[in-house]
Amino acid sequence: MKIVVTRISGLFITIFLVVANAVLIEVILDLFNIKGHRLITGIAGTLLIIIGFTYSMRKRKKFLTMGSPKYWLQAHEWLSIGGTFIIFVHTGTHMTAIVPVITLFFMFIAFVSGLIGRYVYNNAKADLKDKKVQMKKDALEPEEIERRLWALTVASDALSKWRAFHMPVISFLTVMVIYHAISALYYAGF
Ligand code: HEM
Repeated sequence: MKIVVTRISGLFITIFLVVANAVLIEVILDLFNIKGHRLITGIAGTLLIIIGFTYSMRKRKKFLTMGSPKYWLQAHEWLSIGGTFIIFVHTGTHMTAIVPVITLFFMFIAFVSGLIGRYVYNNAKADLKDKKVQMKKDALEPEEIERRLWALTVASDALSKWRAFHMPVISFLTVMVIYHAISALYYAGF
C-alpha cells in the first residue's frame, strides 16, 4: 500500500513541478517583457521529445542495437519530461488560438499518460520479482537480468493495454504538432 501511495504521489508531484515551474518561468519572462523565446523553446522542446523516440528504435533494433533498453527507456522518460517542460514554457499562459491550445492539450495528455505508463511499468516489473530471484540463482549477469526483466515487463498484459491508449494519443499529438508548426511558421511569414 505504502509503495502505491509513494508512486502515485510521485506522479502528481512530477506533473505539478513541470507545469508550475514552466508557468513561473513564463511569468518572469513576461515581467521583463522577454518575447523572443517562443520559436527556440518550441523547437527545443519538440526536438527533445523526438530524440526520445530513439527508444522505440532501440526497442525494435532498428538502426540502434547498442546499450541496455532499460537505459534507453530512462532516457526516453527524462527527454520527454524535459521536452514537455520546455513546451510549457513555450506556451506559457498565452492561450488564445485554437490550434496551439488543442496541441498543448494532447501534449499534456501524452505527458500524463507517459507517467501512468511508468507507474504500470513499475507494477508489472514488481510482479516479476520471483523471476528475478530465479535469474539471480541461475547466476546471470546483472545486465542480462535487467534486459530480460525489461523484455518481460514491456510484453506484459498491463503495459500492452496501456499502449492501446497511449499510442493513439501520440498519433494525434504528432499530427497536431506538425499542423501547429506549419501554421505558426506560415503566419509568422517564414
Ligand atoms: C510527452 C511525450 C511522450 C511521448 C511522445 C511518448 C511516446 C512514447 C511512445 C511512442 C512509446 C511506445 C514505445 C514503443 O513501443 O515503441 C512510449 C512508451 C513508454 N513511455 Fe513514453 N512518451 C512520452 C512521455 C513519457 C513520459 C513523461 C514517461 C515517464 C516518465 C514515459 C514513459 C514511457 C514508458 C514507461 C513506456 C513503455 C515502454 C514500452 O512500451 O516499451 N513516456 N512512449
